[in-house]
Amino acid sequence: MNNFIYENTTKVYFGQGCVHEFLASLLNGYDHILLAYGQGSVKQNGIYDEVLNILMTAGKQVTEFPGIMPNPTYEKVQEGVSLVRENRTDLILAVGGGSVLDCAKAVSLAARFDGNAWENFWARKGIADFEPVPMGAVPTCSGTGSECNGAAVITNRIEKIKTGYDYTKCSPKFALMDPAYTFSVPKIQMTSGSFDSLSHIMEIYFSRPDEQNVSDDLAEAVMRNIIRNMRIAAEDPADYQARSNLMWDAAMSENRLLKMGKQCDFACHLMEHQLSAYTDVSHSRGMAVLLPVYYRHIYRNGLHKFARFARNVWEISSEGKSEEKLAAEGIDALEQFIREMHLPATLRELGIREKNILKKIAGSCRYSPGSYRRLGADEIYDIFAECF
Ligand code: NZQ
Ligand code: ZN
Repeated sequence: MNNFIYENTTKVYFGQGCVHEFLASLLNGYDHILLAYGQGSVKQNGIYDEVLNILMTAGKQVTEFPGIMPNPTYEKVQEGVSLVRENRTDLILAVGGGSVLDCAKAVSLAARFDGNAWENFWARKGIADFEPVPMGAVPTCSGTGSECNGAAVITNRIEKIKTGYDYTKCSPKFALMDPAYTFSVPKIQMTSGSFDSLSHIMEIYFSRPDEQNVSDDLAEAVMRNIIRNMRIAAEDPADYQARSNLMWDAAMSENRLLKMGKQCDFACHLMEHQLSAYTDVSHSRGMAVLLPVYYRHIYRNGLHKFARFARNVWEISSEGKSEEKLAAEGIDALEQFIREMHLPATLRELGIREKNILKKIAGSCRYSPGSYRRLGADEIYDIFAECF
């Protein structure tokens, strides 16, 4: 295993009713709350009413920060920064999906920084050696794991860059995770969000070191759990056990634990982020389209691991097969699962109509040192074109 330092300061309260039970006690010492949320789902499913009622009963001064969009923009972050400064916010409470949580984290960091936050914390990895505004997370859908890490993935629309780094200090102080909050999530968001969790684990698993280590063994177990529970939740959206497994799987996929001792790839995430920066496609759906095609390009450079993936995650028999055949069958199984979950398989299905733009997007993708093989812009374009 590679050397590492592990820290995760987010205190997690997990289970049905946890907001009702614990939120009020977590507000002690905070008077001015910025309530961040998305484009309306929380008002339809009753979560907004429940949270606001707790804040009001506790006598807090609440400023609302609504309308956070999927693929949150740096302009939206700046809007939140102004609200924090005008209202002397001492706690940001983010209630929503990964986009809401990310935007709130970005606001918490940028509001306490006097210079150009984009240049210092997103354009390149900076040093966050000051205390961001404390932030609490109430995820209402599962997938990104944003509730348990310090990453805020933000889009700069002018520069056409979507990026984010995990700053330990930006980790939420607490995360209230109620799986029942996810019952109202549309099926496509449930399946694609959970596929995003699966993709995080694959991006960790398919990276060096590959000799036996605890991260890879855990990763296989969590991948199998995600696949099993996606199938159950797709069949019965009201299955609480499936929803709760998927919610915790999402946190496990991005709470840093599985990353320890591993180099981590995330090359496909870097490609997808740029695809979203240019076309505003959904991150999780974009991952479903790109990942199998990316893996067909690189699997020969990690043959042994891809064969292990086929055997241990998809339970494919290795009998009478070469390692290469087995490895390829693992990717086939992944692709078949994407189809079974009715996730998109082409960029056209994501709404991208222009093939021309793909060359430019490919040229804008950053390089991941963790990949089994370094891909240049030409090969990234080939991947995009095959996905088209
Ligand atoms: O905006 P509202 O109206 O709230 O609707 C949301 C939104 O349309 C809806 N939703 C959420 N909870 C719901 C619900 N609808 C009904 N009932 C509920 N309970 O679902 C949609 C969620 O959209 P979004 O937040 O964009 O999805 P997701 O959670 O997949 O987050 C994606 C963002 O996170 C970033 C992605 O790049 C993307 O910008 N990521 C963040 C990561 C991190 N911080 O660690 C890692 C990921 O790899 C990813 O890059
Ligand atoms: Zn992701």
